[in-house]
Amino acid sequence: MTADPRAYAFDERQRMIPADPEALAARVAAAAPGDFADYRRTGIELMLLGRYEEALDHLDRALETVDTETRAITVWINLADVYRYRGDAVTAIALYRRAVDAARDRAPEVLSTAAQHLGKALAEQGDTEAARALLREALRLRVAEGDPESIESARIAWETVENARIPLPPMITALFGANPEFSDDHEGMSGGVVRVNGAFWMKRGPGAVAEYARLNWLREHGIRVPDIAVFESDVLVLADAGVRSLAAGSARCADADADADGGGGGGGGGGDAVELSGAGRAVPDAVAESVSRRAESVGAALGALLRELHALPTAGCPFDSGLDATLVLARRNVLEGLVDSGDFDDDHAGSTPEELLRRLVAERPDESDLVVTHGDFTPANVLEGGILIDVDRLGVADRYRDLALAERDLREDFGAAAVEAFFGAYGLADPDRRRSDYYRLVDELF
Ligand SMILES: Nc1ncnc2c1ncn2[C@@H]1O[C@H](COP(=O)(O)OP(=O)(O)O)[C@@H](O)[C@H]1O
Ligand SMILES: [Mg+2]
Repeated sequence: MTADPRAYAFDERQRMIPADPEALAARVAAAAPGDFADYRRTGIELMLLGRYEEALDHLDRALETVDTETRAITVWINLADVYRYRGDAVTAIALYRRAVDAARDRAPEVLSTAAQHLGKALAEQGDTEAARALLREALRLRVAEGDPESIESARIAWETVENARIPLPPMITALFGANPEFSDDHEGMSGGVVRVNGAFWMKRGPGAVAEYARLNWLREHGIRVPDIAVFESDVLVLADAGVRSLAAGSARCADADADADGGGGGGGGGGDAVELSGAGRAVPDAVAESVSRRAESVGAALGALLRELHALPTAGCPFDSGLDATLVLARRNVLEGLVDSGDFDDDHAGSTPEELLRRLVAERPDESDLVVTHGDFTPANVLEGGILIDVDRLGVADRYRDLALAERDLREDFGAAAVEAFFGAYGLADPDRRRSDYYRLVDELF
């Protein structure tokens, strides 16, 4: 499936590694890619060398010059390999899944490859049953196709499915004990966080590495963050802070609250959560009053914390989240089909991701008022008591990067009074609508 069969071998986990790294590095240095095949080959070679950012750039160029859907599917698989190799299983699996679905519909000649890769990725995450079904299918297709080398690699993948799960690093295994209980039942949006033993929150991959560095920086600068229980390799384990997020009790969380067990911190843990009224249901005065008090206190708490964060000196902050870097990532998400247009705000509904990206480039504002921003500053990412979480995108950027998202979520989930309390506590009388709309638009592509 790849460029030069002599360029790579397989390691014990069935991942491609370069046969001769120095020769390969020299070859990549001399490459001057100009068309689809060149970009794809060099992209794969960069991946073999562990140069993942450059690999993604080259594979994105391949996607821009691709001429058939079958070839596009093969590039999605290559891209997914890069994400998987660098530890981002969530993005990898999303791309492999799209490749499998498209191949099943319209490109049966690449279905065996797509199914085998998705099967391997799921097996690595411990989803053995789904992995087994895909690897069985891949092996059957490859036997029918008749290429001995491909049959052999499918056979190995099938035979090793039980042992393919990527183990947790030793200190983390020790922390969790003999029978850890993993739960996905919480309000997280990224699909990448797991609650463990009701006492810890675990993330893995490049986002977890970024989050670890930023948590330490924030703590050193006096911002409240959860305690880090263990960080090892690319796995981050936070202690449960024992309190709910500010989103608990909002319209968005009301259903989860109703189902929740009411235990401890995190998630939509129910307890005394205040539900907003259901449409058409009469609300007693006392309930309406406590709902509006809750809304105002959430707005004020968010505003006060954001004021504190934005007051930190930018000079000592090593993380850059400015528009140059952000628009590069946005463009990548659009090219790779990672943007969910079904999730757009009402005023962007019906637009394509490509249209939004063009607007972002055309309407780009100056960035003269830089502060330390969180990057996803919403009620779900602040715990009661002003504890900041989900900080992997923290970096220096325009203050409206945070103001826009806070306002959007507060208005939607808590109403206009919460927004007013937010700006009051932040200390901003007259928000800049143009900047606010711009940064809300940016967020659609993430
Ligand atoms: N240390 C913690 N203590 C309490 N609750 C937490 C903690 N970490 C995460 N949570 C809960 O889990 C949710 C998801 O975690 P978060 O870090 O925001 O991940 P995601 O990237 O999935 O949004 C949070 O909104 C919060 O409810
Ligand atoms: Mg979050």
